[in-house]
Amino acid sequence: MPGAIHAEGLVKTFGDVTALDGVDLDVPEGTVLGLLGPNGAGKTTAVRVLTTLLRPDSGTATVAGVDVLKHPNEVRRSIGLSGQFAAVDEYLTGRENLQMVGQLYQMRSGAAKARAGELLERFHLADAADRPARTYSGGMRRRLDLAAALVVSPPVMFMDEPTTGLDPRNRQALWDVIKELVSGGTTLLLTTQYLEEADHLAHDIAVVDHGKVIARGTSDQLKARTGGERVEVVVHERDAIAPARGILARYGPGGRGLDDVSVEDHTRKLTVPVTGGAKLLAEVIRDLDAVGIEIDDIGLRRPTLDDVFISLTGHAAERARDEENGTGRPPGKDRTNRKEPAA
Ligand SMILES: Nc1ncnc2c1ncn2[C@@H]1O[C@H](COP(=O)(O)OP(=O)(O)O)[C@@H](O)[C@H]1O
Ligand SMILES: [Mg+2]
Repeated sequence: MPGAIHAEGLVKTFGDVTALDGVDLDVPEGTVLGLLGPNGAGKTTAVRVLTTLLRPDSGTATVAGVDVLKHPNEVRRSIGLSGQFAAVDEYLTGRENLQMVGQLYQMRSGAAKARAGELLERFHLADAADRPARTYSGGMRRRLDLAAALVVSPPVMFMDEPTTGLDPRNRQALWDVIKELVSGGTTLLLTTQYLEEADHLAHDIAVVDHGKVIARGTSDQLKARTGGERVEVVVHERDAIAPARGILARYGPGGRGLDDVSVEDHTRKLTVPVTGGAKLLAEVIRDLDAVGIEIDDIGLRRPTLDDVFISLTGHAAERARDEENGTGRPPGKDRTNRKEPAA
């Protein structure tokens, strides 16, 4: 039986850009699918097709069992969407905006008021609740927009990069609300550039790059593809990097010799995938000590989805800047999928 969201062979081109290049998706009812990929991967295009806002060039999709292309109005009645298209009325207050959404969905007025109050609280908008939305900062609008999408819990929800630009405490608030929705039975398709977010929220992850799903599985399955845990060592002296690399290579998966060990010169950090767990650390420390290599730090860590992305694509995921907290990385180039001009 197809899931709550099912897509087969979705293709969408814009001129010479192939935004979707044959995408298949299946999201079982009551689960969260994380569509993970860098800027320009095709995430928003996929969401727009599935939410009836855009017709694909080819392919089919159903949402809650209803054909997206044949019965778009029926699909719209069973979905919720947050993203760049949500409608916040500038002249209403934050509270009025949320209550209005409740009324549109025929909630009782007491219930709509209570839900609005709760969401304003959770997204740290309570102080601004009775000011018109046009006086809100960019970050506050973004939060109001998310809250509006969460007033009712439709059977199927789509959230397009919901936490991009949120500060950590609002990100946590959103994660909590999402978990509540899902435990209440909502099916969610969430797009994200944040590997740790997909890891945290999604039952299944589909990694998209250049309009294609390049890998799918649970977070653990994807992590397993990178070969388990890693030992990370920071050596004290720059000169120790080369000999330390030789020693760490002995612990690597083999076959690649020194290439098993990745080196970050400016931090003097060496990383090697290992199997063997914590007792291995003691052995590594002893081996390094035996040749007089001094270490500043050593640890064992599980691979992150970042490692997965690198191993799948040969490049790191590019991401947008985190606007509110300023701790994000520089904005990624919007990588387009343009075909190379014929030589
Ligand atoms: N309306 C459009 N017109 C032209 N190109 C578009 C349009 N929408 C998206 N694209 C292009 O399609 C590709 C995928 O875009 P998008 O789905 O927005 O990616 P993502 O959401 O993963 O960042 C990008 O190269 C983007 O520039
Ligand atoms: Mg997008």
